[in-house]
Amino acid sequence: MRFRTFVAAAIIGAAGFAPAIAADEPQVVRQEMMKKVGGATGAMAKMVKGEADFDAAATLAALSTISEVAGSIGAYFPQGSETGFETEAAPAIWTDMDGFTAKLAGLKADADAAVAAAPADLDALKAVFGPLTKNCGACHETYRLKKS
Ligand code: HEC
Repeated sequence: MRFRTFVAAAIIGAAGFAPAIAADEPQVVRQEMMKKVGGATGAMAKMVKGEADFDAAATLAALSTISEVAGSIGAYFPQGSETGFETEAAPAIWTDMDGFTAKLAGLKADADAAVAAAPADLDALKAVFGPLTKNCGACHETYRLKKS
């Protein structure tokens, strides 16, 4: 019995171990963070398009998520993480880190302004959503391999 428990634990341990290592890699962390930004943006886009009812709390949560990621994701582009883990980060990030950092700061500033505005209705959301989402393509066109 004891041996069986040990073997089972070892198998579970081994299975849990490999993804845990990958999850720590900066390429994986930053992709997860950008996915969160994509999800937050998508939730607001549905409201803007009239596919979902305006929700002030959900809007504020989405804007806060984008602000948080914009303020912290810059740490996940260290030297040596240019390739691997299916990263779509463009080489331009490492040849022009200042430009990339400036684009991140732009996203952060617009997200913070939108959080401060705390949109209380759909028109208020629309007013901040346009300027905020201009940052996405403006960065991706230079600093992400897959354009959007
Ligand atoms: C300052 C630059 C910058 C800004 C601004 C930016 N992104 Fe990104 N985004 C990136 C980079 C770089 C990647 C690729 C990361 C990687 O694959 O390592 C990326 C990847 C993504 C991905 C793919 C994530 C995945 O791997 O599945 C989505 C979705 C995304 N961004 C959405 C957005 C949205 C929506 C906005 C605007 C609200 C935005 N991004 C703003 C730089 C930026």
